[in-house]
Amino acid sequence: MVFPTHRSRRLRQNPAILRMVRETALSVDDLIFPLFVCEGQGVQEAISSMPGVHRWSIDNIVREAKEAHSLGIPAIILFGIPDKKDSRGSEAYNPKGIVQRAILEIKAAVPEMVVITDVCIDEYTDHGHCGLVENGKILNDPTLELLSKMAQTHADAGADIVAPSDMMDGRVQAIRETLDSTGHQDTIIMSYAVKYASAFYGPFREAADSAPQFGDRKSYQMDPGNSDEALREVEEDIGEGADIIMVKPALPYLDIIRRVRDNFEVPVAAYNVSGEYSMVHAAAQQGWIDGPRAQMEILMSIKRAGAKMILTYSAKETAKILTR
Ligand code: PBG
Repeated sequence: MVFPTHRSRRLRQNPAILRMVRETALSVDDLIFPLFVCEGQGVQEAISSMPGVHRWSIDNIVREAKEAHSLGIPAIILFGIPDKKDSRGSEAYNPKGIVQRAILEIKAAVPEMVVITDVCIDEYTDHGHCGLVENGKILNDPTLELLSKMAQTHADAGADIVAPSDMMDGRVQAIRETLDSTGHQDTIIMSYAVKYASAFYGPFREAADSAPQFGDRKSYQMDPGNSDEALREVEEDIGEGADIIMVKPALPYLDIIRRVRDNFEVPVAAYNVSGEYSMVHAAAQQGWIDGPRAQMEILMSIKRAGAKMILTYSAKETAKILTR
């Protein structure tokens, strides 16, 4: 491939040629839209650290789901913000809890919308940790039962996919067994298999009021220095019954997405998390970057790295750009 016989610029001459040779295409089919649901009626509460993102009461969440559906977005993922928190996260597995009721209403209004739920008790515990706590330690095995109950109540309400994000060992197996024994053989498990202890969750913790009240999450979320460990986590979760594997966050871990993609044959999802979203918005507000273009470029990088599905707070704006 030597100049002047070969000229790379020949294939960059105009937009039509660029479209024809482009290797990676972002599609509205790839998008998963995260939504925060809270108690009340007519509630639309802005989250200051995430411009354009809100906490919605169930009536408004239904409207959001309808709008996402009309834009062609195939799936949403729900995060619950309960009124009451306690040490065991009881509201997380209350059959009449906030997420359980939201699922029912969304499924009644837009049955075609794929409803995914985050399965983790941190938004529901007063200590803010993803597992039960004893003497300052996060307990693994006793937490599995609560996660299983939570997943079952979501499936009972009509959730299509449950997505455990707690990072307890063995939770995919526990959830699979519970779902299978309660008539939910077809409920899909999307496992947050590779979830790093990341600074990029900061804005989410404000949104969900879920910052840990003591310590940090480093005894269960992964160390950013590790890569081989990610493959072990994925192998374990597939073995336990995960149907879809997630890597999170996305942007600082594009190499991990690629390694997972190259090593396993399951669909890969990636979470373009709150901090990644807010960073782009903050810079755009300053006029330092073109926000929508930067956001599209980031999503393209995640797709190119090997993710088929992308969870992103910019799903609606992205869908509008992709379908115009
Ligand atoms: C845990 C959970 C978190 C996120 C998704 N699920 C927070 C955490 O681990 O602290 C973060 C998502 C984001 O930052 O956008 N329930």
